[in-house]
Amino acid sequence: MTIKLIDVVITAREDQGAGIAVFELARPSGDELPRFDAGAHIDVHIGDNFIRQYSLSGNSENKNSYRLGVLNDPNSRGGSVKLYQEFKKGQLIKISEPRNHFPLDADAKKTILAGGGIGITPMISMAYTLKSQGKPFELHYCTRSKGAGAFERELLQQFPEQVIFHYDDDGGEQLFSPEKLFLPYDADLHIYVCGPTGFMDWVINNAKSFNYPSEQIHFEYFSADVDVTGDAFEVYCAVSDITVSVGEEDTIVKALAAAGVKVDVSCEEGVCGTCITDVLEGEPDHRDHFLTEEERSDNDQMALCCSRAKSKRLVIDL
Ligand code: FES
Repeated sequence: MTIKLIDVVITAREDQGAGIAVFELARPSGDELPRFDAGAHIDVHIGDNFIRQYSLSGNSENKNSYRLGVLNDPNSRGGSVKLYQEFKKGQLIKISEPRNHFPLDADAKKTILAGGGIGITPMISMAYTLKSQGKPFELHYCTRSKGAGAFERELLQQFPEQVIFHYDDDGGEQLFSPEKLFLPYDADLHIYVCGPTGFMDWVINNAKSFNYPSEQIHFEYFSADVDVTGDAFEVYCAVSDITVSVGEEDTIVKALAAAGVKVDVSCEEGVCGTCITDVLEGEPDHRDHFLTEEERSDNDQMALCCSRAKSKRLVIDL
């Protein structure tokens, strides 16, 4: 997949909350940017072969600028820290066109948006869209403490009826409670969650335990710890007619690269979908956080950066 790049300039940077930088991006000419739908993200080229994904957090009706929220997170793989510490107003950067793997369900009658920490960013663009469509929703923003989050003033101004803040250090009734929000089971309710992996797993697992089917649970992981190790297997590339062996500690992407077959990658931890490739034969061992349960069970595509094989051999469309 070839990703078209766009040159943009950082037109504004505002530091908010605890270690969050909010960047506004626009074309140097001021012309319109490609439109996006709520939930979309862009790749930001932070350095040579150093690309990270960030959700677009502004109103999708704004045609001339994109907005990102970036957390100065020392536990990240370095992209967010570099952006936070080094990127200033006036700087030129390259970004991809928006892609959306986290869209709103157009048929949802009710929506709960749950953002943990910096995971609030896609929820804000969703809230703008739902508000403009006149659809009922709640926007839950979970942070460690009052003042730690970004966008709080904007959320109170724009969504005074819908936004609910939850502070970890405040305890009691105000804490985010999946039981209170998701029960009794509601066939009309769609749940969206984004944030730290532990928060997301907790919300998703609660929703599942309350019998919400996967069609009603929507999520997007920013990053993930993925175990890419396992038994060795063979991969045959049907288009290039090349066979590679993937060792116990290897990934398909690395094994293919060693054989001269380049695969476009971005996150390399199974969250962005850049490396998803069709599978023609064999059974993948899915390790990613990108494909839905249905897509996994179809076994006709897989993330080459992290997933492995349950069968001895895979045939892929490369
Ligand atoms: S590179 Fe992001 S899912 Fe594989």
